[in-house]
Amino acid sequence: MSTAHQTNQETAMKAFVLREYGSPDALELKHIDRPTPGPDEVLIRVRATSVQPWDWHFMRGEPYISRLMPGMLGLRKPSVSILGADLAGEVVSVGNKVTEFGPGDEVFAMPQRGGGFAEYACVPVTEVAPKPATLSFEEAAAVPLAAATALLAVRDQGRIGPGQRVLVNGASGGVGTFAVQLAKAYGAHVTGVCSTRNLDLVRSLGADEVIDYTKQDFTREGGPYDVILYIAGRRSFLECRKVLKPKGVCVMIGGAADRWLQPAGLVFSALIVSRFTSQKAVLADVVGDKETRRNLLELSALIAADKLTPVIDRVYPFEELPAAVRYQEEGHAPGKVIVTL
Ligand SMILES: NC(=O)c1ccc[n+]([C@@H]2O[C@H](COP(=O)([O-])OP(=O)(O)OC[C@H]3O[C@@H](n4cnc5c(N)ncnc54)[C@H](OP(=O)(O)O)[C@@H]3O)[C@@H](O)[C@H]2O)c1
Repeated sequence: MSTAHQTNQETAMKAFVLREYGSPDALELKHIDRPTPGPDEVLIRVRATSVQPWDWHFMRGEPYISRLMPGMLGLRKPSVSILGADLAGEVVSVGNKVTEFGPGDEVFAMPQRGGGFAEYACVPVTEVAPKPATLSFEEAAAVPLAAATALLAVRDQGRIGPGQRVLVNGASGGVGTFAVQLAKAYGAHVTGVCSTRNLDLVRSLGADEVIDYTKQDFTREGGPYDVILYIAGRRSFLECRKVLKPKGVCVMIGGAADRWLQPAGLVFSALIVSRFTSQKAVLADVVGDKETRRNLLELSALIAADKLTPVIDRVYPFEELPAAVRYQEEGHAPGKVIVTL
């Protein structure tokens, strides 16, 4: 028993708890009390969660610049003690203001302040939706944050429509595998950028063309594109501009990480530079988005219509969650990394 008071076996749960910034070893498997739902919350028995850059940025407290941003990482200690921003599971109980769900309902959720790395999680009802009927818990847990990010980028920031030429840089990762499918679902001609081993995967998701970033530089040939969805790598906005149409848009989602600044520096420098150019850089940021339920429902509809399928790279048992984080952090997972409970 790890909490200050005795934890009741009946109401205890296993959770990976983060007390200090560090490597995946900082995630400690503990028995702690189950959370109790507030009036607007849903208590969920978690069956699967996913691991993504969100988790290890919070775990390591990096980039350091993000410790200074309100609502992001804590200055000296993690601002989130149980990570996991995606989950799928069954409703156990609901707060007294929740009317949409009841015990036994199968749901998936995007808890903006984490909670998925535990057997039970309390999630605001606005961040929960019915689990897509055709997906398993593992598949459903792959969807929320990565696919919602891709949806915001395609639908809202990129405003992608039929016939547009779209380049997805980072097409094989968690966000990219959804972005390629969504850009196709919205009618675009899609070029996916990935490494040699992922060319077939990206083609299978519907990309019309693929560029192998180990052999070709997308900023020097091809295009021009109406929209670039910028997810991975270290290309500056000035380089991307060369293959954007005069009124083209570069949607900034992420990029290569480092300890101090990146990918925040790459993203925000693009936003500043684009104030002085005809082509625009815009930010797609799912953190703080107030439309989580609506987005989950739209993603469910696309899944039901067979236009969106999660790509799962690896599945780990709960006890091996730190190994899952270690693997995801290497930055080369094709698709999503899932943990089951
Ligand atoms: N703005 C937001 O709200 C938001 C939300 C979610 C994620 N993000 C950010 O988006 C980024 C991607 O997230 P993710 O979940 O997709 O990560 P991920 O699953 O770890 O993506 C890794 C993928 O990136 C590919 N990649 C690495 N270097 C590349 C390069 N130079 N060119 C093209 N592809 C490259 C890798 O392929 P190879 O193995 O072939 O290298 C791998 O498939 C991260 O920076 C993350 O923080 C932002």
